[in-house]
Amino acid sequence: EGELTLSRLMVNNSDKLLRKEGSALFHHSGTGWQINSSLALEIRKDILRFLDAERDVSVVKSSFKPGDVIHYVLDRRRTLNISQNLHSLLPEVSPMKSRRFRTCAVVGNSGILLSSGCGKEIDSHDFVIRCNLAPVVEFAADVGTKSDFITMNPSVVQRAFGGFRNESDREKFVHRLSMLNDSVLWIPAFMVKGGEKHVEWVNALILKNQLKVRTAYPSLRLIHAVRGYWLTNKVQIKRPSTGLLMYTLATRFCDEIHLYGFWPFPKDVHGNQVKYHYYDELKYKYFSNAGPHRMPLEFKTLNLLHNKGALKLTTGTCI
Ligand code: CTP
Repeated sequence: EGELTLSRLMVNNSDKLLRKEGSALFHHSGTGWQINSSLALEIRKDILRFLDAERDVSVVKSSFKPGDVIHYVLDRRRTLNISQNLHSLLPEVSPMKSRRFRTCAVVGNSGILLSSGCGKEIDSHDFVIRCNLAPVVEFAADVGTKSDFITMNPSVVQRAFGGFRNESDREKFVHRLSMLNDSVLWIPAFMVKGGEKHVEWVNALILKNQLKVRTAYPSLRLIHAVRGYWLTNKVQIKRPSTGLLMYTLATRFCDEIHLYGFWPFPKDVHGNQVKYHYYDELKYKYFSNAGPHRMPLEFKTLNLLHNKGALKLTTGTCI
């Protein structure tokens, strides 16, 4: 088998893009972009050599029985018990089985979305993927409301729902999930120890309130396979961010992928401040090498793919 597509592109780019630092480099106008379908197809095939998103997007019921003990993916010495509730929420078959879309939006959570006016455009895609249960209603004009697939790190319970300490926190959470209808709720529950209590509470609330949301729990091999794909392409990430993971999965289901809300820089191209999240006051944390991600490096890679027509990044306004 030949060389992977992306690594070839990187070499041909002679590091020009990758050596320069700073966000000023990434000023790309929204006009003039065209999909390069054959490149997108090549990337889909390359990624399929590492993972099959249709399968790896979730474990299924038949993979475990209640009481099984598994090792955390990124913390092999620690274990997790597959509870009755968790088992009952595992899908019978992959929630993405046979689902194909012409255009998809992957929406990151950067403050770059504020005043973008991108809501309508985002909602016009056939399939919309969002991250970490980000709020939408109050920001609809800029981020849209459609959510066909939404991720939820267990830490979100603490960060955005007060650790479910009060009844009102739990109500707010149940309300948020009920708005999702039968969308996919993707919970990376097997990554690291620490969130198991939160995952159990979430599971209990879903069952108790008979929410329609379709739960999915990424396979134990997904993160290593995704990391393997990017490392093989000489993109030296540590742990892929949720946004990069979602792009990688989307290549399997979507012919054309549009990214919004990806901007891991504290300033925009004009030097104006950009919030880390469009919806809260969290500060930038992924610039030191101590953090788990390499978001600026990921962004440079996505920008290269944008320039080649493999995906479309929107970092400006949509009007
Ligand atoms: N993102 C970005 N620029 C930002 C914030 C987020 O490009 N300023 C992208 C990243 O790909 C990130 C995704 O949007 O993974 C979702 O954002 P967030 O919920 O903040 O993810 P984190 O919790 O920061 O990181 P992760 O869940 O990936 O560990």
